[in-house]
Parts: sequence; structure tokens; C-alpha cells
Amino acid sequence: MSTSGFDVKPSANPTDANVRKEILANPGFGRFFTDHMAHVRWTKDDGWHSSEVRPYGPLTLDPAASVLHYAQEIFEGVKAYRHADGSVWTFRPEKNAARFRASARRLALPELDTETFIGSLKALVAQDVDWVPTPASEAEESSLYLRPFMIASEKFLGVRPSKEVDYYVIASPAAAYFKGGVKPVSIWLSSNYNRAAPGGTGFAKCGGNYAASLAAQKEAEVHGCDQVAFLDAVENKWVEELGGMNLFFVFKDGRIVTPALTGTILEGVTRDSVLTLAKDAGLKPEERQISIDEWRDGIASGEISEVFACGTAAVITPIGELVSEHERITCTSGSGGEVGKSLRKQLLDLQYGRSEDKHGWLTRLA
Ligand code: COI
Repeated sequence: MSTSGFDVKPSANPTDANVRKEILANPGFGRFFTDHMAHVRWTKDDGWHSSEVRPYGPLTLDPAASVLHYAQEIFEGVKAYRHADGSVWTFRPEKNAARFRASARRLALPELDTETFIGSLKALVAQDVDWVPTPASEAEESSLYLRPFMIASEKFLGVRPSKEVDYYVIASPAAAYFKGGVKPVSIWLSSNYNRAAPGGTGFAKCGGNYAASLAAQKEAEVHGCDQVAFLDAVENKWVEELGGMNLFFVFKDGRIVTPALTGTILEGVTRDSVLTLAKDAGLKPEERQISIDEWRDGIASGEISEVFACGTAAVITPIGELVSEHERITCTSGSGGEVGKSLRKQLLDLQYGRSEDKHGWLTRLA
């Protein structure tokens, strides 16, 4: 059997339908995985080959595989949404494919073409389509989170680009990223750590960036915060992003500002979509540097009326408080600001097929 050019080897022990139903009723985020995974192999001599969908299970890696030592690895985050008629769609996957190639170039990994990237999502979702949740109501954001990733698998301890690479996609049914659903989250302002520096890997979606954010994330948790915000590494002045999400500042005069893509910030697909939806809604989007002082002063004067984070996993999540050693500033009160709520609804309505896809952002998976 073959789907989108992928050989399909079905699992001999798929999850029992009742167990799957129980999981889908309360999936959380990233805790449960479907019955299959997609895989494509790359070697320096033969390029990409052996596309398959096979049973989900542990990988066999040589202990000397270079990913385990030098972190030559990249990943993506994509969601599959079930529409009311039962069909399954994804959102702007060609943007993820392009970003995956940009990340690959930075990490000296081979580039995967858009057709194979989207084909891998289609082949896996076709096989595990029963794992795509049906949201019980418009308020519920359940989807199948797809995690494409690429690792350097050559057995070699010298530091150079691997001559053997494996690309996989795994899938995990998902509800809201933050426990307790959509409610304002608190942000710890990191002053001991930076996430990325000019010329580094900040714009690439590589595991190393996330590993580097964890000590700061631990610090955030010690201070009772959900997430950490990073400033730029040169002046410690410019707001960059959270550990895994981009930031937006809503001004009361209709401007909506997000930090410019300076090479140290991840080029979020949700970030880009919010900029477009904000413009459609008559707001004035600005991509520019925004300093931590402008954040503080804007909240104090009331110029900034709300702050939110966005990403594939987090969708749009209001920022309740900014916390550091010396301060605790309320950024967005109550259950979140009106602009963030409205943009979030527009985004979800589009993704779940409840509004017209004016920008041609949806791709059918199954
Ligand atoms: C995503 O939003 O898809 C990410 O990869 C970020 C991570 C925090 C889950």
C-alpha cells in the first residue's frame, strides 16, 4: 500500500478504539502518540529515499550517532484540524516546509522539498485519521499536533555534518498547550540568560534553542511563572520572544507591535498569520524592535492595552503578568484582552473551517 509516495506498513497492534476515545476526550499536550510515524532516510550518496509510514515505536540509534553528541537536529510543529463535515485540514504547511529548509541550512542538514514534507503529513494523517479529535464545541481547541523532525544519525564522533540523516513525523492528539485551558499566563523576564545571539541559531527551529531556554524556564517556575521572556543578547534591552512563542503588544490607538525578525527570533507561522489578520481587521501591525522599557512604560501609561503570545501549540495566549526580581506588572487583566480574543477566534474559525479561507491558507490532509 502507498499514500503520497510513502509505503505503508500498518501496525499489527493498533490502540483499542475505546482506549483511543478515552485519550481523545482529555489528551492534554504531547502526552499520547498515535499508532504510526512517517520516516524518510537520507544519505550523502543517495539523497532522500525509502519513504514509509510504519508503526510508532522507539528508534534504534547508534550511541555514536552525531545528533546525540552535537545536537544536529531540527523540528517543526503543525496541527491537523477536523472540520464539521469530518474532513481533516492543515494550516499553511508550505510555510513550515520553507522554515524547515531554512533551519536545515543553518544546521547543515539536507533540505527536504515541500512536496515530501506535505506528503509525509498526508501519509501519516491518512493512516491515523481516527486520532484527529472532533472538537465538542467552538470553545474547544482540540487537534492532532504533528511533529516533523530531522536528526543526524551517522555513527561518527568527528565534528562535521552527518552523512546520514533521518526525517520522521510523529503525531499527538492535543488540547490547549497550557494546563487549565486559555487563561492569562505569567512571564518571567530573564536577566541571567539569553536565548540567542546574532549569527547564532535563533531563527532556526532546532532543539538546541529549546534546550538553552530550559534553565531560564526553571528559574521562571521557581518564581511561580508559566513562561520566560528573553531580551536580546547584545544590549539586553530589546524584547525577543518567549521560550517557544512569539510576542504581540496591542496599543490602544490600534497599533499592534511584534518584535522584528532580526535573525535571533523564530519566524512563527502564527505570528505571520496574526499580522495579516490584524491588518484585515483594520489594526496597524508593526514589525519593529520594542524595548523592555517601552513594554513597562506602555503598561504604566495605559498605551499598551494587552500583551499576548502566539504559536502553533499556544495559538494566542494572553500574557497576564510580567515578573522580574524587582517588579510584578499586570499586562492583561481578566480573562484576556478583546483584541487577542478576537484574533484568536478568527484564527480558530479559519483553521476549523468555520469561516471563509480568504487567503488560501488551508490544505486538505484527509
Ligand atoms: C509549536 O508551537 O508548535 C512549538 O513548536 C513550540 C513548543 C513550545 C511546543
